[in-house]
Amino acid sequence: MIKTRFTELVGVEHPIVQGGMQWVGRAELVAAVANAGALGFITALTQPPYAEYRQAIIESGIKIVETAGNKPQEHVTEFKKHGIVVVHKCTSVRHALSAERMGVDAISIDGFECAGHPGEDDTPGLILIPVAADKVKIPIIASGGFGDGRGLVAALALGAEGINMGTRFMCTKESPIHQLIKEKIVANDERETELIFRTMRNTSRVAKNAVSTQVVAMEREGATFEQVRDLVAGARGKMVYATGDADEGIWSAGQVQGLIHDIPTCAELVSRIMRDAEAIIQSRFEGMMSGARRQAAE
Ligand SMILES: Cc1cc2nc3c(=O)[nH]c(=O)nc-3n(C[C@H](O)[C@H](O)[C@H](O)COP(=O)(O)O)c2cc1C
Repeated sequence: MIKTRFTELVGVEHPIVQGGMQWVGRAELVAAVANAGALGFITALTQPPYAEYRQAIIESGIKIVETAGNKPQEHVTEFKKHGIVVVHKCTSVRHALSAERMGVDAISIDGFECAGHPGEDDTPGLILIPVAADKVKIPIIASGGFGDGRGLVAALALGAEGINMGTRFMCTKESPIHQLIKEKIVANDERETELIFRTMRNTSRVAKNAVSTQVVAMEREGATFEQVRDLVAGARGKMVYATGDADEGIWSAGQVQGLIHDIPTCAELVSRIMRDAEAIIQSRFEGMMSGARRQAAE
């Protein structure tokens, strides 16, 4: 068991979060993550409009909400009025600090490695997490590029109170996407992502495929959003998960694909991460320390 300020804040067993994932963060995945002792979030983007969704969250007694994007104030104010814990996900220290001022309870901070929107600063987690930990007072969850026990220990060492994982949870037995896409994630290595919408300053890290490569090439030639709109249509991306054809449209995945080699259940995944993290701390690190102590004593 690893107890942190975050596990205390939200009352979960393990310092592991499954962040919002459009089309993927549905009840079956979130329930499996929760039953594994971690914190899972159902994704609102699967079912807008926001204000009504927010009201439904409050009325149904949900206790913890993840927000993202640059204008969370109206959500934060409303959720805090009802005693709901708000975890705000962002990609820069300045946005983390402004969310802290707005009254959120924890920050999930996404490094450049992450799937989805990494922002425009291109700061990898190895820098972003400790810089944020130095400046933000509320608990920080490290996000982007995490998939195993080594990552969890590294995040804790950098000053975070836990990890958030998207791509890794997407590739589990309970994840509601086609088996062939899970197998594609396992087959992919860390180079199989692409950054689309760079030229529009709305960068998104997605799985590299025929469509993403075409979009990036068109952007290089100066294409506008209108010109790539059909290629990047959400309906096409959704079809990827339904049909298992990885080239059908744009779908999100991070560089952590290079660390994903299997399709476990969420329970297997979470317990493996915790077991490995504890072994690193108790055996590997403690072994290094006691080896050094022995040498000093000799
Ligand atoms: C398939 C997929 C869909 C995602 N959709 C959203 C989304 O709708 N909103 C959001 O804030 N983040 C979204 N993300 C980002 C994740 O919440 C998380 O921040 C990210 O996956 C962390 O990086 P990782 O994939 O390296 O773990 C998505 C990620 C994936 C893999």
